[in-house]
Amino acid sequence: NACVRAVVRTAIFKGLEVYGVYRGYEGMIEGDIKRMHSYSVSNIVQRGGTILKSARSEEFRTPEGRKKAYNNLMKHGIEGIVAIGGDGTFTGAKIFFEEFGIPTIGCPGTIDNDLYGTDYTIGFDTAVNTALEAIDKIRDTAAAHDRIFFIEVMGRDAGFIAVESGIGGGAEFVMVPETATDIEGVVKSLKNLRKTKSSSIIVVAEGDDAGNAEEVMQKVKSKIKDTSKEFKVTTLGHIQRGGNPTARDRVLASRCGMAAVEGLLKGEVNCMAGVMNQQVVYTPFGDCIGKTKPLIEDHLKLIEILSI
Ligand code: F6P
Repeated sequence: NACVRAVVRTAIFKGLEVYGVYRGYEGMIEGDIKRMHSYSVSNIVQRGGTILKSARSEEFRTPEGRKKAYNNLMKHGIEGIVAIGGDGTFTGAKIFFEEFGIPTIGCPGTIDNDLYGTDYTIGFDTAVNTALEAIDKIRDTAAAHDRIFFIEVMGRDAGFIAVESGIGGGAEFVMVPETATDIEGVVKSLKNLRKTKSSSIIVVAEGDDAGNAEEVMQKVKSKIKDTSKEFKVTTLGHIQRGGNPTARDRVLASRCGMAAVEGLLKGEVNCMAGVMNQQVVYTPFGDCIGKTKPLIEDHLKLIEILSI
């Protein structure tokens, strides 16, 4: 929402006419497109989600669907597009630009932070803080009852949320899709840790190679003989995808939204407006989709060192 607001208001500030496309590419195909004014985005900067709604569109994957979308945009005389989303959104935007040539810029909107071309994505900081708050609360029970908790956070293909919430939440282990999970190693470390700690927090990204939190817990449990130890699983799920955005997210969203409109006016096309090292950068969609943003290596080391 903060990004939508920034796009609308920057464009109006620059003397442009703005339309909102509802439900993403699905609404583009169905012609669900409405004029937006500066007041259309009043009172939304603090709200999670998106007033424009979101949808997955199978039809936009087809040339016929994209042609319908193009015709609808032409009805309104639309000359530039700002697409907010992640991998799927940019894959669609790239094909659409290549087919019809309407100048398009993306803004990085995904809680997963897995987009190349920006240090952080819009929604990530809020998701991490939500996960962190939950981990802090779960820790109270873990400590009081001497339990081992496996907490599942989102991240089908990326472990950014797991790593940052794990560091902030003082987790003993973090399991992520990017690195091979060594169950034997975890079991060995848990046994060692028992000499100094009576409870443990293990953060598991939902897409970890060893399975989700429940599966990982079963694998670890089956290798630990001490039956007095209680193992618990908590899946945080979609609470990570909502709620009032943090200040960091609102600022990032506002910057990217403004940069997208300014980029279009400067002639940048077929790319994403992101922020790297505090600077706005425009990265071709091809790179955003094709290149993998690696986890920060120091972060993985931190978890290992600080969990002793
Ligand atoms: O792509 C972002 C993401 O949050 C993933 O980490 C997660 O697996 C997925 O979305 C959940 O999507 P849905 O709400 O469609 O189940």
